[in-house]
Amino acid sequence: MNIWAFANQKGGVGKTTSAITLAGILAGRNEETLIIDLDPHASMSSYFGMEPETVSQGVFELFTAQSNNKTLELDSVVHPTGIEHLSIIPSSVAVATLEKRFGANNGMGLILSRVLKNASQQYSHVLIDCPPVLGLLMLNALVACNQLVVPVQTELLAIKGLHRMLRTIKMIEKSLHKKLSYTVLPTMYDQRTRASQKSLKILQDEYKDCISSQPIPVDTKFRDASFSGKPISFISKNTHGLKAYEVLLEQMLLSRVNNSENREVA
Ligand SMILES: Nc1ncnc2c1ncn2[C@@H]1O[C@H](COP(=O)(O)OP(=O)(O)OP(=O)(O)O)[C@@H](O)[C@H]1O
Ligand SMILES: [Mg+2]
Repeated sequence: MNIWAFANQKGGVGKTTSAITLAGILAGRNEETLIIDLDPHASMSSYFGMEPETVSQGVFELFTAQSNNKTLELDSVVHPTGIEHLSIIPSSVAVATLEKRFGANNGMGLILSRVLKNASQQYSHVLIDCPPVLGLLMLNALVACNQLVVPVQTELLAIKGLHRMLRTIKMIEKSLHKKLSYTVLPTMYDQRTRASQKSLKILQDEYKDCISSQPIPVDTKFRDASFSGKPISFISKNTHGLKAYEVLLEQMLLSRVNNSENREVA
């Protein structure tokens, strides 16, 4: 089972869009796919018409049950998205309180990986959308995933944010004794602007071993898709943005085969 997390401490870089788009392509290929919305802002849940004020079974219930050592069937927090083969564990406003309630408790970083241990019979792919904050929720995603995607907007400030995220990854690798396999994904690339071109060049020079083979271009169709409540692959088949995500997906599926991800750090 692929477990992919989408994380960056910087906001607005394309984490949610990347997770939804890749999940949409996979579901369109009849692959059973689960998306998990770990962000209290619940953009991913809202995208599929689930309002964070009214969700009563989701990430919050999953974490509270686990922290109380209660067993909770994964199915009870999984909801349909309206797209065949695509299900979601939604977020809700209460998710914002998890950090305060349980942040310092021992073993809380392992909840998601424990829950997902038994999910491989049902799902081929699990895609986890993280909040732009390093805390309990992002930590759970980093521990559970076997691949990490770090979207970064092709602009200078976002590149500075990326350095912070990579320091976080190093720190977590040390404390978990686990190597995180990650892909830096340049997003919202506008080839007409010098700033975008310059930023992409910096990223390609600095991260040549772990950068995606091509950037995700700016594409207004993503916004159109969000109004429809469906991933872009169900709206427009021939957009530049979708094609770039299809290339990324192939790269990720291939590296899953070739990688010795999660190998122990010496
Ligand atoms: N390639 C793209 N082209 C044009 N617009 C995009 C693209 N990718 C994302 N967007 C838009 O940019 C905005 C931010 O994207 P998104 O919500 O995916 O970022 P995020 O990293 O999840 O943000 P947050 O940290 O707030 O959760 C959204 O309005 C989205 O529709
Ligand atoms: Mg988001």
